[in-house]
Amino acid sequence: MSRDEILDRLRSEYMGRSLYYYDETDSTNARIGDLAGAGAPDGTLAVADKQTAGRGRRGRGWDSPPGMNIYMSLLLRPDMDPSDAPMITILMALAVCESATEVIGGENAGDDTPAARIKWPNDIVIRGRKVCGILTEMNMEAGCISGVIVGVGINVNQGERTLFPEEIRDTATSLKLECGHAIDRSILIAMIMERFEDLYGRFTDSGDLAYLTDRYDELLVSRDREVRVLDPQGEYTGISRGIDDRGELLVETPDGEVHRVYAGEVSVRGLYGYV
Ligand code: BTN
Repeated sequence: MSRDEILDRLRSEYMGRSLYYYDETDSTNARIGDLAGAGAPDGTLAVADKQTAGRGRRGRGWDSPPGMNIYMSLLLRPDMDPSDAPMITILMALAVCESATEVIGGENAGDDTPAARIKWPNDIVIRGRKVCGILTEMNMEAGCISGVIVGVGINVNQGERTLFPEEIRDTATSLKLECGHAIDRSILIAMIMERFEDLYGRFTDSGDLAYLTDRYDELLVSRDREVRVLDPQGEYTGISRGIDDRGELLVETPDGEVHRVYAGEVSVRGLYGYV
């Protein structure tokens, strides 16, 4: 993987065309934060082969060894209300999920071929194990969004489960571990940029996600399954019924009421591992 190789494979109009490539950096989200402050344009992408301080959600780290994975962050400069920004995570999850299934050959094959699924709202899983995490951060100036940073970490060519840190060994996987062959990282990055550009364009035109909810719900790991919602006001369980046109998860409780889950933890019962 190199800057030239990624540029060579890009088919998008502007997503990823302003491209910064690092053999090693602390965190691509941090790099994009700096670039945003320096006036970098909408669609600027930072890609690293290795991160020394990869950031995960909830203050956790993101294991980022060299030579095998994708660590990338995209800068967006949307003209939207800050409360709309979480919908961008939904778009990226869909773009990654569909692209991952395409590169592992998941949609054309028989029953035991894996396809990637979305664990709403930030993760992509294959056979119940996490293959990708998304960390979306927002920069504000005077009450307006000055930039949204969408950080994406994908385990691509990790060939041995033992290479994962012990604490995630049972719950993490890589594309290669699931499909049995190595994946060209530059091709996957280019695919994601192209898909995301299309999804983002339709979103900014229409202002909501109505055009993709059916497509998204097909890929939702929790769809029509019992989920536990870890609401700080009190946990509850219900059946996940997909997302609404703002990307909120609809959870139907036994009394027939449908709750809209805006963010936070939702665990899916009866599935392997952390999902
Ligand atoms: C999660 O906790 O699941 C989100 C992980 C996000 C990791 C990616 S790797 C590229 C980008 N840079 C970072 O420091 N974090 C994100």
